[in-house]
Amino acid sequence: MFETINPAPEDSILGLTVAFQKDSNPNKINLGVGVYKDGNGQTPVLATVKEAEERLLRSEATKSYLPIDGLAAYAALSQQIVFGSGHDILAAGRAATVQTPGGTGALRVAADFVRRISPQATVWLSDPTWPNHPNVFASAALQVQTYPYFEAETNSVAFDRMMAALETIPTGDVLLLHACCHNPTGADLSPQQWQAVAAVCAERGVLPLLDFAYQGFGDGLDEDATGVRFVAEQCRELLVAGSYSKNFGLYNERVGALTLVAANSEVAEAAHSHLKICVRTNYSNPPAHGGQIVAEILGDPDLRQRWEAELADMRNRINDMRHLFVETLDELGAGRDFSFIAQQRGMFSFSGLTPEQVQALRERHSVYVVGSGRINVAGMTEANVERLCSAIVDVLK
Ligand code: LMR
Repeated sequence: MFETINPAPEDSILGLTVAFQKDSNPNKINLGVGVYKDGNGQTPVLATVKEAEERLLRSEATKSYLPIDGLAAYAALSQQIVFGSGHDILAAGRAATVQTPGGTGALRVAADFVRRISPQATVWLSDPTWPNHPNVFASAALQVQTYPYFEAETNSVAFDRMMAALETIPTGDVLLLHACCHNPTGADLSPQQWQAVAAVCAERGVLPLLDFAYQGFGDGLDEDATGVRFVAEQCRELLVAGSYSKNFGLYNERVGALTLVAANSEVAEAAHSHLKICVRTNYSNPPAHGGQIVAEILGDPDLRQRWEAELADMRNRINDMRHLFVETLDELGAGRDFSFIAQQRGMFSFSGLTPEQVQALRERHSVYVVGSGRINVAGMTEANVERLCSAIVDVLK
């Protein structure tokens, strides 16, 4: 059975990490995978995470299974961080959450759930989007289509074209939206644009699925939830796929959450029972450790406050690097306006580099960038930005 198999291509993002690790150049720079690095180029464990782990190590009494949908406290805290505590949706019992292995796990459970209840639904993805999005939905046997999102000429959201496309999405289809820190472009919708998108979803009966992997990396925890909360105001049903990989730095613990909002608590409960079947048939029940860390931190006012400060440090460092990158490119004579990068949010921006320039960066300078030209700003440091910008200026010539 296996002898006819041809090798599959490397993953366009995680495959880059493999190539980066093999590169022996001591000055190599990785702007590929979406992992935060501090000013020393490290991805350390947050101090609040360490503290929560110490507490857990002392108090943990069993390694028995979690329920299919995970820790109840984690689910409740995840809902509060997305919608704000005391939100009407939570008070009315309209939300149900399952703890998932990372944000990708949340997306896959969402995909399996949609396929289960509405197999004919098409999932609409922004063009461009995270390269794994189409694969996740296609693997769940759903149809995938795209809507225009980005204007390369202006480096901003192609809002008119996006809206024109959304007006044609059939009722019952699913619209995937990046809640903040759009991956790969870094170009987000304004609050007014979110209102308009939410209104189209409500009018057309399209199910919004918000990928919320970067909460807190844009402008702040609540600020970044603006889009989700506008959508929740106008749409009776929605799905939110969240991740704590980035904002808690818990990448390898695989900590995510899929939250479903329904018109009332009875519908939410019925839908929740189907989410649990999707989980049970996929990975049975989630791993405990990461979820316990998040619940420990979010549930303790002191730890939570200190975690928010750590998150703000990460966010501020990225935003500072955005400015330094633009200034340094200018000083080194890039001869092109990169100022849009300072306006964008989250880890990523589309640099506008062509696939040939991306390849030249890697071959000539050991600088690793995703083939689409997406750069991870969080991989820049004060120590590497000058070398990085000289390399970019070189390949732009
Ligand atoms: C990314 O886009 O780099 C991250 O979301 C990591 C991943 O899994 O691709």
